[in-house]
Amino acid sequence: MGTTSPARPRSGSEFSASSADVPPTTPNYSLLQRGRSLYHDIWFRLSERLRWSRRPHHETPVGRLSGLAPWQTSRIETLRAQYDADFESRYGHHTALANYAYLDVLDQAWNAAARPIPEGGRVTDVGCANFWYAHTLYRFFRPATLTGVDVEGFRLYPTGYSRYDAAAGYIADLPQTAFLVADYSQIEEQADVITAWFPFVTPAPVLAWRLPLTLFSPERLFLRIARNLARGGTFFMVNQGTEEADVAADYCRRAGLHERGRWIQPQPLRQRPHPPVASWWTS
Ligand SMILES: C[S@@+](CC[C@H](N)C(=O)[O-])C[C@H]1O[C@@H](n2cnc3c(N)ncnc32)[C@H](O)[C@@H]1O
Repeated sequence: MGTTSPARPRSGSEFSASSADVPPTTPNYSLLQRGRSLYHDIWFRLSERLRWSRRPHHETPVGRLSGLAPWQTSRIETLRAQYDADFESRYGHHTALANYAYLDVLDQAWNAAARPIPEGGRVTDVGCANFWYAHTLYRFFRPATLTGVDVEGFRLYPTGYSRYDAAAGYIADLPQTAFLVADYSQIEEQADVITAWFPFVTPAPVLAWRLPLTLFSPERLFLRIARNLARGGTFFMVNQGTEEADVAADYCRRAGLHERGRWIQPQPLRQRPHPPVASWWTS
């Protein structure tokens, strides 16, 4: 494990940022899409200007997960034992189960691919939301450093806390871990492992997440991932279903990444509309 200095969120200014060298494309969005995008843009800019933050927010732990099928309980028991995970004593039901589900994807995918887990390196997660799964990544990769990056840092929740506050709570007891509010396509930082869980590769989910389409530039994002991946490093991506995975794979290849394997989860621990599709890439 790395140092025991307390983790804290940090801002994009602590990293060297460069203007991305791929010009953003201007696709033909419909009038409705443009209208929604404009509306989300106003709120996004407002939240970035206000940068609302109270203090680290911690969920009320559920204590014990209930209402699960026997196979889910048994799988969670296995993950708990193998990774010393205790998500129900940290989080509410939803976040605890979601963490086990992500840990399950990691565990099963790496086992299926029979590849060694790249432990002890610099791990960056791209588009981490409020980094609710930081503990899962930490337990799986045992990283020297762990950084979650998201372009939207200050969305305000109905609780009165912001995404920034939530992230501060999720990483509070993880050494050498940070939450960075920045557009990843402008970040220059090498990493041995880069992960991306459900990155935007089509415009519809961007609007569904209440974000402006001005933030949607997968070409630049994947190019930056390829650039920031250290020699011999691994980019691990998870997409929703094979159709989305194919679109994402196309962006990866165009960015100069090479596919090293793909795995489709047969039975996700938490039900999803499409099965998670994991893939491994090198530069
Ligand atoms: C579909 S969500 C997935 C969130 C998270 N990975 C998860 O599994 O819950 C995509 C996330 O990517 C973030 N994002 C989109 N473009 C980004 C960029 N250029 N740099 C950093 N984050 C970005 C969005 O703000 C959003 O939180």
